[in-house]
Amino acid sequence: MRKYITLVLLLNIALLSAAWISASAPLTEGTRGAPGVGDPYFPELGNGGYDAQHFRIGLTVDLNERHLAGTVTMQAIATQDLSQFNLDFLGFSIEQLTVNGVPATYSRAGREFIITPAVLLAKDSPFEVLVRYQGTPGQYDGLSSQPFSGGWQHYPGGVYVASQPDGASLWYPTNDHPQDKATYSFAISVDAPYIVATNGQLQRVEDDGAGRRTFYWETRDPTASYLVTVNIAQFSRQEQEGEVVLIRNYFPADKQAQAEAVFAETDAMLGFFTGIFGDYPFEVYGAVVADKSLPFALETQTLSLFGTNVLNDSLQAQIVIAHELAHQWFGNSVSVHTWRDIWLNEGFATYASALWVEHRYGRARFMTLMQDWYRLISNPAFILTAPPAGDPSAARMFHPVVYYRGAWTLHALRQKVGDETFFNILKIYYQRYQYGNAQIADFVTVAEAVSGQSLQDFFTGWLYQQALPEP
Ligand code: ARG
Ligand code: ZN
Repeated sequence: MRKYITLVLLLNIALLSAAWISASAPLTEGTRGAPGVGDPYFPELGNGGYDAQHFRIGLTVDLNERHLAGTVTMQAIATQDLSQFNLDFLGFSIEQLTVNGVPATYSRAGREFIITPAVLLAKDSPFEVLVRYQGTPGQYDGLSSQPFSGGWQHYPGGVYVASQPDGASLWYPTNDHPQDKATYSFAISVDAPYIVATNGQLQRVEDDGAGRRTFYWETRDPTASYLVTVNIAQFSRQEQEGEVVLIRNYFPADKQAQAEAVFAETDAMLGFFTGIFGDYPFEVYGAVVADKSLPFALETQTLSLFGTNVLNDSLQAQIVIAHELAHQWFGNSVSVHTWRDIWLNEGFATYASALWVEHRYGRARFMTLMQDWYRLISNPAFILTAPPAGDPSAARMFHPVVYYRGAWTLHALRQKVGDETFFNILKIYYQRYQYGNAQIADFVTVAEAVSGQSLQDFFTGWLYQQALPEP
């Protein structure tokens, strides 16, 4: 109690002195947080001036009306004196906005949600923003139009969320760039019998006794905004204490047997990748299968997202499952510095899936797969029209060149430096950049340091020049 009174006194003094500062010093340009982090592909993504630490996402979901009522708080630390700062957020009506519990004013311009707190936020001080909002997630011009970038998506059986690279701000206010990862807690309420599955671990379920349930989830590790997912459907939960980590899967209840069979090797894949890359980075893993065919899968953190089309007994399904799992190391733990570095995600996950094929099905199947990909990337028409894998542009960041020439870049590196050095490069790169961000140049630096070879020309040929090098 005494502690509490002291705290209130201190807070008052802080508020008073901050008010005095803002009254005497005009709010200048220099105290505004930047509207982006400087991503060359997506200049408006993310924001400057603060570092998000934690998001609390409270959502009340009306599946019939496709309506969301949200209360989102962001805890952050100011990295400069801030008279104004931005979140990324599109659509919805804003019902309430406070900073440190005090009402704040705002304006909106496209994706920028521009917030002016009542008092200046001093550099290094923690602050908390609360946004209460409601509405129906919309569609907007000028965003990526990937099938996996639309954010909050309703389908007849429920909801999935896929936001790579710029869909997160379509459903909650966020600092929408992988340079600012944060932890999350979720409280999401839906009508029974629907189930909610998000990133991290389910803490508890509250039943209001009137047919509504709230699912409380929590992530242990910081997560990039595009990797945050919410899935709502009539799922059945399958849980397995794996050799590496707890595995919990969410499958459409009526497709559980088939799904369990298709995902049966997840634990073996986790063991294999842990052995060649280093420790699995997160507290839990699993798959969620939306009850809908999807033209993609996505490596949403700790809970990769698939459509029902993965539920077939094929090598291709196992390759996709291995690919999304490998992203937990490359993409999710080691995140891109900017979206121009997408090869560090897709080239690596694609080659990792081939390494799983080599390990599990043998060298011949591996060589066949690599040759299939080589046939694609060596086709003259492909070479002529593909962008460089190392800088594919925003519009073509998921071009097959990033995946398949990207995977071949790593295979060629392996042939050049030998297996032992190659796998040391992967391990050391992962160890150095895990839970952080890396640029392509960072990987080149590690590869040169570990191999003792000059590799500038090698990577320039594979990643930036049009002609396909001899592997
Ligand atoms: N990051 C996702 C993945 O590759 C993007 C999905 C791309 N899928 C596709 N069919 N192009 O895992
Ligand atoms: Zn991928």
